[in-house]
Order: sequence, then structure tokens, then C-alpha cells
Amino acid sequence: MWDFSVFCVLIVFLPDEKENNKQCHYQKLACCFGILCVILLAGLVAVFVVHSNITNLTTRNQDLENQKNNLTQRIQDMETNWNEQNISRAQWSIYTYCIDNDAKQCNSCRKGWLLNQTSCYAVVNPDDRGQKTWEEAREDCRGKNADLSVVLTEKEKDTINYYSWGDTGYWIGLRAEGGKWKWMDGTELAQTSWIGDATEGHCAVSIQGERWSSVSCGDRQRWICIQDALSL
Ligand SMILES: *[C@@H]1O[C@H](CO)[C@@H](O)[C@H](O)[C@H]1NC(C)=O
Ligand SMILES: *[C@@H]1O[C@H](CO)[C@@H](O)[C@H](O)[C@H]1NC(C)=O
Ligand SMILES: *[C@@H]1O[C@H](CO)[C@@H](O)[C@H](O)[C@H]1NC(C)=O
Repeated sequence: MWDFSVFCVLIVFLPDEKENNKQCHYQKLACCFGILCVILLAGLVAVFVVHSNITNLTTRNQDLENQKNNLTQRIQDMETNWNEQNISRAQWSIYTYCIDNDAKQCNSCRKGWLLNQTSCYAVVNPDDRGQKTWEEAREDCRGKNADLSVVLTEKEKDTINYYSWGDTGYWIGLRAEGGKWKWMDGTELAQTSWIGDATEGHCAVSIQGERWSSVSCGDRQRWICIQDALSL
């Protein structure tokens, strides 16, 4: 733009040898001012656009700043909440593992649960009316901060077999899915010899002294929950 102005000044005021009349100068001058006007107008529009963009960005920045403050506040609230939760959890654990028993001493498993190796087992053995479908049994275990039993080693299999009291079956955490037996976390049963073919809609039942059997998940059975033992 500066170059253009200089150019205008030059053509208007430098003497032109061929056409040295005034009218021509004025024409050139008018033409130059016209073009200058257009350039100025474009500049003005550009400034306006940039300015409104900056205003937008400032507003957006302010919004983000607010959001950040909100989140910081929420994190603080959650930390406070978490701290309280930790304390009430600790209190719950102390009560459950150390006080809620006759000897008033700390145990690796809760009252009514059986310690074997590093796990606690709950053998849920209600009468016929209390028996549950696989899904309901699982809900029950989860309500106890546990899950249906998962059996990964030969030793754990022996333990489940050992706890499968009586002559009826107990749900374990194994179900047929897509033609495969799968534990609840989705891993496949590695030892296929432990049970027969996986029939869709069937779940696994442990019966003492027998191979696991495949039963419709909607049947009602007893069940065994498992939970990590507390290390004291
Ligand atoms: C921040 O939280 C307040 C209320 O806690 C709410 O009114 C405001 O809209 C929130 N701001 C953002 C940017 O989320
Ligand atoms: C709550 O306990 C968890 C472990 O269970 C720990 O990582 C966390 O730092 C604790 N939070 C507070 C606020 O003490
Ligand atoms: C643990 O399970 C095994 C079978 O795997 C059994 O022989 C043993 O008696 C059980 N231990 C207890 C303390 O019940």
C-alpha cells in the first residue's frame, strides 16, 4: 500500500514529457485516490474481521477458563468425597474383617467366608426356594463385593470341587458364548477337558466328584462366590 502511494505521488507530480497538461494529472490523481479508497476500505474490512475474531476468541478463552475452574472445583470436591469414602471403607473393612466375629480378631475373610490359599469362598447353599438363575446368582455375589467363582488352576478347581457340598450343583462364573466357554472377564476357558461342548445359553455348574456340567443359565441352582483374601 505504501508502495502504491509512492507510485501515485510519482505519476502525479513527476513531470511527464509527452502529456504535460493539468487535466491528465487530475485524472491520474482521481484514479489513484479511487484505488486508494478501495484499498483502505478493504483494510477496514480486514481490521473489522480480525477484531471480531479476536473478540470471539476472547469469549471462547473466557468460557474455557470458566470450564477449567469448574473442573478444578469438581476435582477438589471429588477428592474430598473420595477421602471420606476411603475412611468409611476403611471403617467398614475394620468392622467386617476384625470386629464382626466371636474372637474379635482380624481375619483374611469375612464372617461366613472360607479361606483357601489366597481367596475367600462363599458357598451359598439356600433351600430350593432360595436358589437362583446364573444371572441372579452373579448379582448376589457382586452385591457382596465379590463375583461368581473363577477357576484358573487345577488347585482352584479342586477347591471348588471340595466346596461343592451335597449332591446338587453350584453355579461358577463360566458361561457359553459364541460356541466357547468363557469366564466373566471374557477370557476363554483354557482347559477344554474340564467341561463338554459350549451350548449357547448354558452356564457351568460344579457338582462334587463330577466333571462340570452344562446347564441352561435360567435354571435355579446354588452358587459359589469368590473374593480375594485380605492379606494381614
Ligand atoms: C460453571 O458452573 C456454574 C455452576 O456451578 C454454571 O452456572 C456455569 O455455567 C458453569 N460454567 C461452565 C463454563 O461450565
Ligand atoms: C483412597 O484410596 C485409594 C486406594 O484405595 C488411594 O489411591 C487414594 O489416594 C485414596 N484417596 C485419598 C484422598 O486418600
Ligand atoms: C482348600 O482346598 C483344598 C482342595 O483344593 C482342600 O483339600 C483343603 O482342605 C482346603 N482348605 C481348607 C482350609 O478348607
